[in-house]
Amino acid sequence: MLAGEQGEIAVSTFLLIPRLRPCRFSRKTFPVLELKDIRFAIQKGKDEVALLDQIDLRVPTGHFMAIVGPSGCGKSTLLKLIAGINQETSGSIFWNGRNLSEEGDLEASEIGYVPQFSIAYESLTVEENVEAAVRLRAETKNRKAFDRLVDQVLASTGLEALRDRPVKVLSGGQRRRLSLALELVTEPVLLLCDEVTSGLDPKSEQEIVELMHQLSRHEHRLVANVTHSLANLDLYDSVLVLDAGRVVYHGPPRALEHYFSVEKAEDVYPRLAKRKTEEWAESWAKHRDAYDDALPRRHASTPEASVSATTPGAAAQFLALFLRRWQLFFRDKGQIFLQLAILVIFPFLVVVFELDGVEQTRRLSESLPSNLAEYNAEREAMTFNLNLGGLVSGLVMFQVILLTLMGSNNSAREIAGERLIFEKEKLGGVRPLAYLSSKVAFLSVLVLLQSLWMTVFVQSICEIPSRSMLPHFLLLLLVNGAMTAICLGISSLSRTADQASLLSIYLVGFQLPLSGAVLALPDWAGWLTRPFISAYWSWSGIMDGMEKDYLRYIREVTDTWLGPMWLGFLVLLIHIVLGLFISYVGVKRPRWEN
Ligand SMILES: Nc1ncnc2c1ncn2[C@@H]1O[C@H](COP(=O)(O)OP(=O)(O)OP(=O)(O)O)[C@@H](O)[C@H]1O
Ligand SMILES: [Mg+2]
Repeated sequence: MLAGEQGEIAVSTFLLIPRLRPCRFSRKTFPVLELKDIRFAIQKGKDEVALLDQIDLRVPTGHFMAIVGPSGCGKSTLLKLIAGINQETSGSIFWNGRNLSEEGDLEASEIGYVPQFSIAYESLTVEENVEAAVRLRAETKNRKAFDRLVDQVLASTGLEALRDRPVKVLSGGQRRRLSLALELVTEPVLLLCDEVTSGLDPKSEQEIVELMHQLSRHEHRLVANVTHSLANLDLYDSVLVLDAGRVVYHGPPRALEHYFSVEKAEDVYPRLAKRKTEEWAESWAKHRDAYDDALPRRHASTPEASVSATTPGAAAQFLALFLRRWQLFFRDKGQIFLQLAILVIFPFLVVVFELDGVEQTRRLSESLPSNLAEYNAEREAMTFNLNLGGLVSGLVMFQVILLTLMGSNNSAREIAGERLIFEKEKLGGVRPLAYLSSKVAFLSVLVLLQSLWMTVFVQSICEIPSRSMLPHFLLLLLVNGAMTAICLGISSLSRTADQASLLSIYLVGFQLPLSGAVLALPDWAGWLTRPFISAYWSWSGIMDGMEKDYLRYIREVTDTWLGPMWLGFLVLLIHIVLGLFISYVGVKRPRWEN
């Protein structure tokens, strides 16, 4: 059968169905969502490849739409386009008559987007996840209103009984409910769901579709669900069928079989494969208007009546994110253990490896000038002092290197490890600056504790002969801070947490050889690499602050140029600022794909 013929038969049969009375989109029932000639293309080498093309679509208010089609046909791409994650190459998207392409996207609180991946923190409970979502995305007047909203969201998704359960023990269906719950905190007018039923058993699948159906009955809300499954289609108001980036059907589910001349919905996919996409699309273009007109409409009033929540301010978001970071930290026993182990063991390592020399440092630091006279052989004294210079320099470099290692361990996974959740939250209105500030505040506490303990513990045993301990401590604090900030930058730009960890470890690995503290570099190489090596500036700054007698011997054993202390402070501060700037650029940049 030819496309036209088949379409004619289908449309005439479908128009006989009594309940689906055609009615034109009037001013009162205009489509809440309208896509006009949308094209979304990507560049592949020199060619432009269209992932979506000639998409024309009108969806009425208060509607539940299924988006189906073979794998790779562009369903998720279309959803991301509507959500504002993808930018159309050409064409326009209208929402309540407003051109989103020209007048800007919908407010973050107006859209709920449930992606294919999990957007909840595994170690937190259901309630804690919902609470965090409310704090981040919906402004509430007082504690009572806050609790009421949390209760209401849990009730509407059937999660009340599971509120105290950690996410990691939830079943697949329960997780999907939670994903929906997290989006409902703002009462969105547009709820976009990507495969929230995939991988579920038939019963759970039906329950979730019923839940979405219920949610679409909320005044003026449009719920669109991408699905592979052609079961439970009756619960939808319309089905959109995509094939290779083109719309080949958008109409009531009960007319689907008629249109495609198949006995049951499951046969639509094999049927699609029998003809070219172009033919299906042409056939659809002829009959589209009649099917559009037949879509059910429940609300006669204009959709503006529905109000979504307002997004909280930056300070409130910062606080919510900061508190959640600590909550996550204290839930993760492994992380607590690792941080404690590093905190205690690293300074201990410095002392143990230098234990043989500790007595020497003490002896000389107590009585350097008079003891010198006790040595009969001048050469022996000189050797001793030179050894001592090497020892002090080595001790400090060891401290510095271990602090850079702590820095990389602090932040390498911090952003990359939760990137998709953050992208999702950013789409939901979380400000990148609030997010980054919460990370900086959290990491600052770790950096402060680590550097302070490293300084105090090592000093109490080794008595490193610094003229004043404050600059010594500050230079250790800054090197830890610099490496933490730079690795946070790496984390914000990396595709995965593993990639970020690896790059950060390489960066630490290069600190020691390129600092010139152990092996001197050729002059030109030293000047080239030194500006980038945080460890060098911390070490050389501390060396510059040593008691004069020691500094003399340190200079004797080190071929490397020792920069002044003030320059050490300055360069380390620049490293921190640079790391934070890179982190900001990284968190601002969208990164949905790995
Ligand atoms: N950013 C991108 N760059 C290159 N190709 C892309 C990009 N995004 C999507 N694609 C390609 O576009 C096509 C449509 O992808 P999409 O994820 O929308 O498919 P889908 O219909 O959701 O498939 P599935 O049912 O398997 O989830 C696929 O071939 C995919 O590889
Ligand atoms: Mg998909």
